[in-house]
Amino acid sequence: MRLSVTSLPGDGIGPEVTSQAICVLEEVAGGFGHDLELDEKEIGGVALEKFGNPLPDATIQACLASQAVLLGAVGSPAFDHNPRELRPEAGLLRLRQELGAFANLRPAVFYPALAACSPLREEIVKGTDILIVRELLGGLYFGQPRSIDTENDGVPGARQAVNTMRYSEPEIERIARVAFQLARTRRRRVLSVDKSNVLECSRLWREVVTRLARDFPDVQLSHMYVDSAAMTLVLKPAEFDVILTENMFGDILSDQVGGVVGSLGLLASASIGGPVGLYEPVHGSAPDIAGQNVANPLGAILSVALMLRHTFHLPKEAECVEAGVISTLMGGFRTRDLARSGERTVSTEEMGSQIAEFVRLAAHSNNRAAS
Ligand code: IPM
Ligand code: MG
Repeated sequence: MRLSVTSLPGDGIGPEVTSQAICVLEEVAGGFGHDLELDEKEIGGVALEKFGNPLPDATIQACLASQAVLLGAVGSPAFDHNPRELRPEAGLLRLRQELGAFANLRPAVFYPALAACSPLREEIVKGTDILIVRELLGGLYFGQPRSIDTENDGVPGARQAVNTMRYSEPEIERIARVAFQLARTRRRRVLSVDKSNVLECSRLWREVVTRLARDFPDVQLSHMYVDSAAMTLVLKPAEFDVILTENMFGDILSDQVGGVVGSLGLLASASIGGPVGLYEPVHGSAPDIAGQNVANPLGAILSVALMLRHTFHLPKEAECVEAGVISTLMGGFRTRDLARSGERTVSTEEMGSQIAEFVRLAAHSNNRAAS
């Protein structure tokens, strides 16, 4: 099968983790007999520096011409004082829009090998296997009007800022449908998270989700306010299956579950729903550790697994990458974020090579079994 992928390493630790993810993808292609076509382009701060634009047209065109996009990270303190459209993050937000990627899937699984990494006791976090389905193209991130301006309630010189949370019924329905469909491949439970005791957007959200649930009688739907969900995620993380929520709540809760399972560095994401899927680790650009070969590449590598599953429909290949991650963790390999004090740590490259090697051997024995 032909796998055409655009890679966007981006800023900070993005290039380091992406290059490990690509090594793994190359092993998958070589080992399972697929034809990988890779194209690399700029996004974020590196694109701003080179072209004065966080998402150059050439990048958009390349992404739209491929089947999937693998992104590292965007964000750099160098652009902190730029206007919003000239910040690295604006490139990522526009890319999500250009790709029509409205459904952001963020799985968080507890690995027993990493029990010591979670701040929670093992008996609490054991069995945690959550899929956050975050709406990605609406809400406060994109709602108009938005501004910082000098109009105010009469306080001279005091500025005022406005953001708008806005959701339409079709926007809510399409993301809810994704959550219900994915729940059918799991434990068949959807928890919809909102703030319907305060926000109109959330009231509409709850109404639409409840209505759609009738099409999925085999899936159990429940609702929770976001504040209560934040607390319950810490108290009883293992009780969650699919969490369906809007853009901003999903951004916050997905970092929180990263903490719950032990490291944000492990979390992968898929942004789907449009013609081209976008795959990226949940961690950001981490400028403080960039270029040191210490970042955890597992989020990026697990994003490749999601790409194999959701864009290329290659579950065997996806499982092979995931098995490589589990086996590497069980083997005691730890990047700095996963190590306890005194534990030996490996570099970004060493961690990546372990998984690439696992995939190479697994593909080899798979081919031998098939012939
Ligand atoms: C994420 C990030 C992004 C977001 C930023 C970098 C724009 O935090 O993917 O969670 O807020 O969506
Ligand atoms: Mg975030």
